[in-house]
Amino acid sequence: MLHWAIALALAFQLALGFAMPKGASGFALYQLHKSVGITILVLTLVRLGWRLTHRPPPAVEGGFQGFLAKSVHVLLYVFMIGAPLTGWALVSTDRIQVPTMLFGAIPWPHLPLPAGVNEPMEEAHELLAWIGIALVLLHVAGALRHQFLIRDGLLRRIAPGGSAGLAGLLAVLVIAVYFGTGMKIAGDVVAAGGYEAPGDGRVELAGPSLDIDAASAANPSDAPSVAASESAAAEEEAGPPPVWTIQPGGRLGFAVDNAGSALRGSFSDWSGTIRFDPKNPESADLRIEVRLASATLGDATQDGMLQGPEFFGAAANPTATWRSISVTATGPNRYRARGTLSLKGASRPQTVTFTLTGEGLRRRVEGNASIDRSAFGIGTGEAAGGLASSVSLDFAFDAVGRAP
Ligand code: HEM
Ligand code: HEM
Repeated sequence: MLHWAIALALAFQLALGFAMPKGASGFALYQLHKSVGITILVLTLVRLGWRLTHRPPPAVEGGFQGFLAKSVHVLLYVFMIGAPLTGWALVSTDRIQVPTMLFGAIPWPHLPLPAGVNEPMEEAHELLAWIGIALVLLHVAGALRHQFLIRDGLLRRIAPGGSAGLAGLLAVLVIAVYFGTGMKIAGDVVAAGGYEAPGDGRVELAGPSLDIDAASAANPSDAPSVAASESAAAEEEAGPPPVWTIQPGGRLGFAVDNAGSALRGSFSDWSGTIRFDPKNPESADLRIEVRLASATLGDATQDGMLQGPEFFGAAANPTATWRSISVTATGPNRYRARGTLSLKGASRPQTVTFTLTGEGLRRRVEGNASIDRSAFGIGTGEAAGGLASSVSLDFAFDAVGRAP
């Protein structure tokens, strides 16, 4: 059961890894990839434990073939452990610290590794995926050889209930999951507006067997491929997004319900770096930095408490930063930006919505966000007893753009 559960999960995981859009726009697929990958790691450790405490049946073949079979098995274990570990390491050392939430429910820590290992881990992760595919091909070729050339019924040894037919069915299922998943994801991503194009505006679909034709084959209607070519064309005209300067006089406010009445405040010192093309929100890179010491509720006592360890703990972490991961248009001049908020030593996903008014390179930006303060350990003492956990943030500012 572990053999087939892991084989099915790996087929899905490899297809997902190759098909998910690299870069910002694949947030949910990345979370899924990380969740399934860690599950494979856990299942493999269970399997290894089982393997070490249970003697397998004797090998059916010696000599070179026996050696090859055994080597491939050992290397498959190396792959099953190495792939998730390198994935985990590369996520832990990424420039953008995106927290991992397994299946949306279980927070998963980052490995304490230096940022310098990020590149090599990313390379190793991809290389291991390809090595894994090669090993599985050899492994399956071996199984086919036993089944159809030697006809020694070896397949029964890995079959639930000793049924070679069931093992064969599971093997076909593994292959179907690999190709099916890849095409489905590629099709969905293309339909939803496409892959993040590299600098030359080309739509890139990575991975074996996944190209635009494969994607549209999975979606028989013409719509997805039309959407793909349109978004590719749009990005081709667009070039890099304009860079915007936030004008003085903007506002960044917050409000939270305190035992039935609203507590309102604002930050006076914050700044941002904005790269954004209203017509191509996918290429956006938005960063905002807020000096927590500049927060005021208009009352000196409350302001003092706000800076203390039960609230912002500003002495240890003086700034809060938010950086976008993916920005999508939700209506005319209306956008939703998913990103990561780093506040009081914690980094968590944080969505921000905003609207634009004005024309060309002079715009007014207005928006809001709802922040779960408890996720950042803000308001831990008795003083916060009546505070709602959700804090609403609102902002408005003028920005002047210049072509990059
Ligand atoms: C998809 C079709 C697959 C088939 C038909 C298949 C078939 C088999 C068979 C017949 C055995 C038993 C060999 C023996 O008793 O000597 C076996 C063992 C094994 N398989 Fe597969 N397999 C498949 C997929 C995979 C995948 C995807 C992986 C992992 C990446 C994998 C990893 C292993 C390992 C590590 C063993 C050795 C178990 C041990 O000794 O601990 N297999 N497989
Ligand atoms: C058995 C487990 C895993 C397999 C087979 C696997 C496979 C893959 C594959 C095939 C890719 C695409 C490589 C490329 O085209 O560059 C990929 C990318 C990625 N994987 Fe995994 N993965 C596994 C586990 C994990 C885990 C556990 C994590 C994180 C906790 C993870 C994080 C990532 C990330 C972040 C990328 C994108 C890297 C980039 O931006 O180039 N993977 N994975």
